[in-house]
Amino acid sequence: MAATLLNVFLIASFVVAAAAASASNFYQNFDITWGDGRAKIMNNGLLLTLSLDKASGSGFKSKNEYLFGKIDMQIKLVPGNSAGTVTTYYLSSQGPNHDEIDFEFLGNATGQPYTLHTNVFAQGKGDREQQFRLWFDPTADFHTYSILWNPQRIIFAVDGTPIREFKNMEAIGVSFPKSQAMRMYSSLWDAEDWATQGGRIKTDWSKAPFVASYRNFNANACVWSNGRSSCRGSGASSAWMNQQLDGTSQQRLQWVQRNYMIYNYCTDIQRFPQGLPKECTATVSSSTKQ
Ligand SMILES: *[C@@H]1O[C@H](CO)[C@@H](O)[C@H](O)[C@H]1NC(C)=O
Repeated sequence: MAATLLNVFLIASFVVAAAAASASNFYQNFDITWGDGRAKIMNNGLLLTLSLDKASGSGFKSKNEYLFGKIDMQIKLVPGNSAGTVTTYYLSSQGPNHDEIDFEFLGNATGQPYTLHTNVFAQGKGDREQQFRLWFDPTADFHTYSILWNPQRIIFAVDGTPIREFKNMEAIGVSFPKSQAMRMYSSLWDAEDWATQGGRIKTDWSKAPFVASYRNFNANACVWSNGRSSCRGSGASSAWMNQQLDGTSQQRLQWVQRNYMIYNYCTDIQRFPQGLPKECTATVSSSTKQ
C-alpha cells in the first residue's frame, strides 16, 4: 500500500518534472510566424532570438492557446541604440472582439531609458494604457516578465514585482477577458514613426541587426484545445488560479506606481473629457480603502 502510494507519488513528480522541463523548450512550445530566418531557436531549444533589420522584423507565437494561466518569459532587450524598435510580448485571442494583455518595450537612444507600455483589451476594447520605466537596465541581462491571468484579475509583474493589476469589474459593467482563449505572441519590429520620443528619434539602421533574446518560458496554465480546457499543475503550482496581491505585493505595486509609472490612462482627464473609464474610478476608491 505504502509502496504503491510512493510509486504513484514518484510517477506524479516525474510527470510534473517532465512538464516543467519541457516548458522552456522553444521548439516544443512555439512556432516562428514571420521574419524569413530572422527569428532563430538555438541551444537545443533553450534560447530564441528575434532580429530586426531594414528589410524586416520577426516574430513567434505559442502553439498552445491558454484560457487563464501564469505565463513567464525571460527577455533581454535590444542593447545600445534601440531607438525606433518595439519588442512586444503579449497574449491575444483572435477575431473582431478580441481580448489582449500586452507588454511592449519601446527602445531608446543609447543610455536613455526604455519605456514599458502595457494595455488590456476586453471584447475588442483597449485604451487602457499604463507606461513605466524600469528600475534596472533591461538590456544588460535577462529579466522575467509575467502575466498572471485568472478569472478575478490580471497582474503584470517584472522579476516577481507586480507593476499593474486589472481587476475583474464585470459587476460594474466593465468587460473582462475570460471566455476567449489566447496565444502568446512576441515580435520585434520597427516603429520609428512614433516609438521613441514621439517619433523624433529614428532608427539608426547602421546599428542593425537589432536583437532581442528569450529564454525560460514557463506556462502554468489551462490549455484550450478542441473546445476543452485542461489545466496543468496541481497543489502549489496551480495557486495562480486564485492568486491575489497580498499586503507585501500591494506595497511593491504601490512603490512601482509611485516611482516608475510615467503614464496612466486612469488619470488622463484631458483624454476622457466625458469622465474617466468606470474601472478607473472604482480602482481609486477601492485602493484608498486599503
Ligand atoms: C527615451 O528617453 C527620453 C529622454 O530620457 C524619454 O523622455 C523617453 O520617454 C524615453 N523613451 C522613449 C520610448 O522615448
